[in-house]
Amino acid sequence: MMHLFFLAAILSIGLSVSAAPAKRASVCNGHAELCNRGYGNVTFLSSHDSYAISTDILALARVQEVDLAAQLDLGVRMLQAESHMDGDEFKFCHTSCALFDGGLVVDYLKIVKNWLDDNPNEVLTFLFTNPEGLSLTDVWKPAFDEADITDLAYVPPTNPMARDDWPTLGEFIDSGKRVIVFLDYGDDGSVDFILSEFTMLWEPPFDSTDSSFPCSVNRISGPLSTEDHLNMLNHNLDINIIPIGDGVLIPDFAAASKTNSISSILANAYGCSGLAGGVSPNFVMLDFVDIGQGLAAVNLLNGF
Ligand SMILES: *[C@@H]1O[C@H](CO)[C@@H](O)[C@H](O)[C@H]1NC(C)=O
Repeated sequence: MMHLFFLAAILSIGLSVSAAPAKRASVCNGHAELCNRGYGNVTFLSSHDSYAISTDILALARVQEVDLAAQLDLGVRMLQAESHMDGDEFKFCHTSCALFDGGLVVDYLKIVKNWLDDNPNEVLTFLFTNPEGLSLTDVWKPAFDEADITDLAYVPPTNPMARDDWPTLGEFIDSGKRVIVFLDYGDDGSVDFILSEFTMLWEPPFDSTDSSFPCSVNRISGPLSTEDHLNMLNHNLDINIIPIGDGVLIPDFAAASKTNSISSILANAYGCSGLAGGVSPNFVMLDFVDIGQGLAAVNLLNGF
C-alpha cells in the first residue's frame, strides 16, 4: 500500500509537472500581491514629461532632474512624453524643440527597452502625446520597431477596454506583452498596439497652478462610462512666472517636495475618487519624481 501510494504520488507529481503551464511570475512590479490584481485596479507612479531632464535649475522648461533609467529605478511605471517633428527628426520636446529638445524618440525607447530587458517582471505604460497628429504607421510604429519594443506591446482583445477588463499584472508578464501604449490624439486605429488614451482613461485638468488640485473630468471620450475608464492624477504643479496675458507656466520646482508629499498626493486622490467610482487613481503623474514621497504614496494607494 505504502509503495503504491508513493508510486501514485510520484506519478501525479510527474503528471502535474508535465501538464503545468509555463513558469508564472511570482513577483510583479515588485509585489507578489500585484500578480493577481487587474491592471485597472493598480496605482502606478508616473513621470510627467519624462524626457525633459536637466539638473540645471535655469533650464526653466525642465520637468525632471534624473535620467530615464533612474526614474524607472525609483519606481516609475508610466512614462509620459510629448512628441514633435524637428525638421525630419522625430523627437520628444517640451512645447517646441527650440525650448527643450529631449532627443530622438527612438533613442528614448531604446533606453527603456534596455531597462525592460534587465527587469523582466515589470509592467510599463507609455502615455505619449501627439500634438502634431503624426502618422501612426509612418512615424510612431517605426520607432517602436527600431527600438525592438513592438514585440513587448500589448494588443487588447477588444477596444476600448473597460477598467475591469484588463489582464492582471501577472498575465501581462507571463505573456511577455507587458508594455501598454496610449496616445492622446491622432489615433486612427491603424496600429493595433497604439491605444487611444481618452476612450480608456480620463484626465482631470492639467497644468494646475492651484496646489489643492480641484478635480473634474476634463478630458474623456468614447462610449464607456467615466467609471469604466482608468483615471490619472495630473499631480504636477505649475507656477506662472509672467502673470500677464496668457502668462508663462513652468513647473514649480520650489514647491516640489510639498507637492510630491504623501499628504498632497492622497488629498488629490481623495478629491478625484468620487468621480472615479470611489477607487484610487491608476496613475499618479509627478514632476521631479526624485523629490518627495511619490512611491510611498503610490504604495499606500495600492494597500502596501
Ligand atoms: C483596487 O480595489 C480596491 C478594493 O476595491 C480599492 O480600494 C482600490 O481603490 C482599487 N484601486 C484602484 C487603482 O482601482
